Amino acid sequence: MCGIVGYFGPSQNSVEIVLEGLKRLEYRGYDSAGVSFIDEHNELQNYKKAGKLDNLKEELKGKNLIARTCIGHTRWATHGGVTDENAHPHHNDILSIIHNGIIENANELKKELMSQGVKFKSETDSESFLELVSFELRNGKPILEAISDSFRRIHGNSAFVVLYPKTGEIFAIKRGAPLVCGINEITSEALVSSDPYALAGIVHKLYFPEDEVIVHLSGGNKNLVNFYELDLTKTTRYLSKKQDMTVTVSEKGEYEHFMLKEIHEQPELIRNLTQYYFAGEGRETLERIGHFSPKRIYISACGTAAYAGLVVRDFLEGINRIPTNVELASEFRYRNPILSEGDFGIFVSQSGETADTLAAQSLCKKSGIKTLSIVNVDGSTLFRECDDNLLIRAGVEIGVASTKAFTQQALTGRLMSAAFAGDLKDENKKVALSGKFALLAERIDKLLAASDSIKTVAEAIYNYKGFFYTGRGAYFPIALEGALKLKEIAYVHAEGYASGELKHGPIALIDEEMVNIALVAPDLFEKTVSNIQEIKARKGVIVSVGPRGNQELQALSDYYIPLDFDGLEELAPLYVNVVNQLLAYYMAKFKGTDIDKPRNLAKSVTVE
Ligand code: F6R
Repeated sequence: MCGIVGYFGPSQNSVEIVLEGLKRLEYRGYDSAGVSFIDEHNELQNYKKAGKLDNLKEELKGKNLIARTCIGHTRWATHGGVTDENAHPHHNDILSIIHNGIIENANELKKELMSQGVKFKSETDSESFLELVSFELRNGKPILEAISDSFRRIHGNSAFVVLYPKTGEIFAIKRGAPLVCGINEITSEALVSSDPYALAGIVHKLYFPEDEVIVHLSGGNKNLVNFYELDLTKTTRYLSKKQDMTVTVSEKGEYEHFMLKEIHEQPELIRNLTQYYFAGEGRETLERIGHFSPKRIYISACGTAAYAGLVVRDFLEGINRIPTNVELASEFRYRNPILSEGDFGIFVSQSGETADTLAAQSLCKKSGIKTLSIVNVDGSTLFRECDDNLLIRAGVEIGVASTKAFTQQALTGRLMSAAFAGDLKDENKKVALSGKFALLAERIDKLLAASDSIKTVAEAIYNYKGFFYTGRGAYFPIALEGALKLKEIAYVHAEGYASGELKHGPIALIDEEMVNIALVAPDLFEKTVSNIQEIKARKGVIVSVGPRGNQELQALSDYYIPLDFDGLEELAPLYVNVVNQLLAYYMAKFKGTDIDKPRNLAKSVTVE
């Protein structure tokens, strides 16, 4: 969704630095972009364009971009269409601002300001904050006070960055929206962003301010960044972390798309995960989590992360026998769930910034139950809000369609299940589990090496009308995830269904234009095969993903993707999932869609 980058420092290239930061945030999804900067004559300059960042760069060509202070934004439209006027920054003669989130009382504020003679240029809610702060400034309030008083009047979750041309300084504040700032003490640079990824390789130290803390960037000064409460007293309400300078910007390398690269990273990430939790820094966390004894678990997440939650539920119920519910985070708080002592809330997320997942966590926290995240982004809001965290160690995921994060979320959940069971105290059990992880990595490696055969199937089926992904038991979540991947990147209708449910309605849709991707595991083999027969009898096209060398299955299928399940046991669904990832990827490639940035989607959904 929207991206924020601000720079204050000695470099005269602040515009380029901000544009580079925005480029890194492109993966999050956006539909317009803009920058404001203070030029070498101390004048505020403002440029913004609907469409891709390249449109903005084109607009900036030939302009004098020498500037030490700059703020930039990529907008994902909520209030008002995708137009140049609605793009951020919003500015007037005394201020420029950028905004992520939603101002719920914007109409009310606008009416009030209009009655005072203020004129609005855009249809956005964001401009109401610009004019509110400006109104206070014109009434003689100092900038910090003007920001603080205006922010108190804003309803809803938002992050704002304010550029104050009079002094050339940058201020930021947020409530329930991501914000991070970073400094480099050697170069005296201070930056602010909605995502630490934009700051990778530039800053040494990161600060994650808590809600309602005003951040003041004063690069070049003794304190590169200062923090204030709304009453303007200095505060330490922030988390500070050393930035790992080895975190570099992800490049596609030999791969055509980030998604393909990320699919291929999975075997190595699986190996690293076991290393981290069994022999590395993560060991202590897992041991600590092993002391928890939840009576009942609620897992809450959105989209792919929720499907990973279903896989984790099967581990927790199958192995630990702990009753576990998986809840869509967007629904959880609206159905008044019964949360009691001994319950445990687990939140699965790649970004750690998904608004609904954060709201579900907040509900659990308020009800007094323990909360734990299974999360990728260290230092994200979810990470900071939960009582404890298990990092999934997937590295930066750029492809909007989540792939490696799903695998790592499910496997981290498996490690958590082992910790709850006390298995990590038993050397034999530990060795057995790490052996399973290693085998999974090895099988995925082999599958990736033979991915041309999956590409051939994709080429044969990508033009069909619709797709049913079916699976039973542990493969049902994999069917749901497979269908989601295809919808997202190939823009075709696909549904994940429990194999046995098809004849309770959806079978009416089966004809020669419908494909059934049947996930046929060795367990429940016969029952799944009889479901395939039902589809076959109605002329559906069968793509079976099943045990190698099974002639019965091969004979029944139009296309057969053979797999080696033996020894993988409960991890086998994650192996099958890689077939679905590749199928979706290649079908999208044949369709010619924008695979890494599919239409209408944002990588991190920070609004409800
Ligand atoms: C699908 C996808 C989304 C995310 C969902 C949650 O490929 O990426 O469904 O899984 O938006 O996002 P996180 O995991 O960041 O909370």
